Amino acid sequence: MNPSIALGASQPWSPPLYLSSVYHHADLDSLDRIHQAGEPGFVYARDNHPNAEGLERTLAEWEAASWAVVTSSGMSALTLACLASASAGDRILASDQLYGRTSQLLQELSRFHIVAEQVDTLQLAAVEQALKASDRPRATLLIVETLSNPLLRVADVPALAALCRRHECRLLVDNTFASPEIHRPLEWGADWVMESLTKMISGHADVTLGLLAGRNDDLPRLRQIRSIWGLIGHPFECWLTQRSLPTLSLRMRAACTNARALAAWLTLQPEVERVIHPSLPEHPDHDLADKLLEGAGGHMLAIELKGGRDAVNRFMQQAKGIPFCASLGDVYTTCSHPVTASHRYVPEAERQRLGITPGLLRLSIGIEPLAHLQAEMRKGWAGERG
Ligand SMILES: Cc1ncc(COP(=O)(O)O)c(C=O)c1O
Repeated sequence: MNPSIALGASQPWSPPLYLSSVYHHADLDSLDRIHQAGEPGFVYARDNHPNAEGLERTLAEWEAASWAVVTSSGMSALTLACLASASAGDRILASDQLYGRTSQLLQELSRFHIVAEQVDTLQLAAVEQALKASDRPRATLLIVETLSNPLLRVADVPALAALCRRHECRLLVDNTFASPEIHRPLEWGADWVMESLTKMISGHADVTLGLLAGRNDDLPRLRQIRSIWGLIGHPFECWLTQRSLPTLSLRMRAACTNARALAAWLTLQPEVERVIHPSLPEHPDHDLADKLLEGAGGHMLAIELKGGRDAVNRFMQQAKGIPFCASLGDVYTTCSHPVTASHRYVPEAERQRLGITPGLLRLSIGIEPLAHLQAEMRKGWAGERG
């Protein structure tokens, strides 16, 4: 028998970490009350555990949701959403500028006879056409990202939500690049929001978790699928993420302020051909970003260096304070190269159509002092003009 330590009248101030994979019960009635009468309690950690539930409650508030479910990664949150909304013979619609693994997940679903169709979600008429197409299976889910990778195009969530409502299709918004600090898709009419908690929400590059949240009555079914398919996140990762939440606002706002200031500064640097950030007036979705992202524009930034791939390579070798990492949303600024990383397997013709060139560098801006970042970037292109 495990020792149980009585805490008496005292309560721990910081949330405890419950690593137990199973919970014991006094008798059969106790278990019945949990299963049948909805009494609070836990049975088995793959079904649910206190650290997941605590995190879910806090994040549901952030997302303006009535419920949230934590999953083992962003990809498992997307898997859960697909499993819950499509059966063999249904169609899932998705933006044609999604995170690469999400597009691959949709292709995988064809093995289960779920049809995936990608559409240019920046063209509302094209979305409507795809939603109402009567010669194809009915569309049950539309997936878009608030900010696309790496070009940071902004999804018109309220307009897409209105279209989806009209055609009885759920709208799922992957809000990973924005975080609920600057955009809450449910407030703009989306049915579900999904986050990779691995990124800005946990914020320290030491967690892999995901979240799906909403306001409808889907929670019991989602919890059931999460348990059957084994998609829940580990207690320690939930605990770490819970610990990150009090600083989410500070981190996200500081990173967005840095990104805005850097974007303006980068437009003045002769080594930089193109700067992509929604705060810039020349960004195609500048006005929409102002409306939907509280004017913050986000912490992601992309630049095209003059000199193409060689210039990017030199930047990575010289700007050692901005490491090349295949993730984003850390407190430290990191960079990635879409052509060799996220878009490596996208056909070149498609990359060209989208404007993803060899000189394009994606930056996830952190919370370092601005002057430090500017100095680091100058190191990246030092010797360029010599
Ligand atoms: C926009 C977006 N969605 C989803 C994911 C998947 O999240 P995870 O890596 O936590 O599975 C990522 C990961 O990079 C992402 O960038």
